[in-house]
Amino acid sequence: MSSIALPLLLVLSSTAFTAAKSIGVCYGVNGDNLPSKQEVINLYKSNGIGGIHIYSPDEETLQALRGSNIEVLLDVATDTIPSLTHTASAKDWVNKFVVSYSPDVNFKYIVVGNEISPTDQWALYILPAMQNIQQAISAANLEGQIKVPTAIDISLVKNSYPPGNGAFTDDASGFIKPIVTFLSNNGAPLLAKIYPYFSYTENQQSIPLAYALFTQQGTNDMGYQNVFDAMLDSMYAALEKIGAPTLQIVVSETGWPSGGYQGASVGNATTYYKNLINHVKGGTPKRPFAPIETYLSAMFDENMESGMEFVRHFGLFNADKSPKYGISFNSSHSVEQRIMCIFSS
Ligand SMILES: *[C@@H]1O[C@H](CO)[C@@H](O)[C@H](O)[C@H]1NC(C)=O
Ligand SMILES: *[C@@H]1O[C@H](CO)[C@@H](O)[C@H](O)[C@H]1NC(C)=O
Repeated sequence: MSSIALPLLLVLSSTAFTAAKSIGVCYGVNGDNLPSKQEVINLYKSNGIGGIHIYSPDEETLQALRGSNIEVLLDVATDTIPSLTHTASAKDWVNKFVVSYSPDVNFKYIVVGNEISPTDQWALYILPAMQNIQQAISAANLEGQIKVPTAIDISLVKNSYPPGNGAFTDDASGFIKPIVTFLSNNGAPLLAKIYPYFSYTENQQSIPLAYALFTQQGTNDMGYQNVFDAMLDSMYAALEKIGAPTLQIVVSETGWPSGGYQGASVGNATTYYKNLINHVKGGTPKRPFAPIETYLSAMFDENMESGMEFVRHFGLFNADKSPKYGISFNSSHSVEQRIMCIFSS
């Protein structure tokens, strides 16, 4: 190996490392037949799942995560948000749920507000609560490791096709602008829920199944091969229009159901997840080459989820812990191997 080649190898390996860690799984608990918290975390470990999204600071889960090195995306529970606008309460929250478990638990994000709409009663509290949590994280010297984002959904973006026309709705702009400034100032990403499945079921005339499942041959006239990229890029375009052209988006939820509605089947879900896991190693047309950090939703079918039948079929595993699909969550390790092959050939 020549000395000139060495820096290149280092750059490539660090990219591969990021890619290897880009898949996490959301741990929803709306079921009365799910395994114990410890068993669930063991299932993450035995499947090599490197990240977990938890929806509230459940101490049994945090306890089970000690020593696991699994990256944790932790939501503050929605009904806690107003209290976090008080500095002392935010500090207590961080001490109780973060500092007491750190560094045994590998926290990556503390998420203030999950899919809060700008017209929601909670909207006014989001930014002050984020600021207080950030302050408490900094006071604990954890600001280098733990970022404090919020998670939004795609309904905040209008004109989402072609993706370049994406813009935040008038309601959303006032809400999201100061939040985006806060995120940029703290080097934090914006979190987004991206569900090509809903795009497909809601717009079957314009969105073919193949375009939602990453199986379309070639790109369309706008240069897109799949809905996932188009959705993400419409949000990137919206961020550019409010002066945040470099903010990163992390996909905090995406998934495909195995039954209960149109397009929902084990076959289609397998196709979606396999292609998605492979796809997120690279970027979107607007953000090429950078891996897309992505959390799959969800770990289990949740029999107590309310709504249409398909919402109870989003699990990657059955309640008895058997896998529903033949997919490998850490297959991205092969990226490193592929890069080594390219390098040595
Ligand atoms: C994925 O992780 C599991 C459990 O850690 C391990 O047995 C398996 O070899 C890994 N697969 C790859 C492709 O790295
Ligand atoms: C995917 O969904 C479509 C539409 O419901 C269905 O016709 C097709 O059989 C499904 N494919 C698989 C492999 O399950």
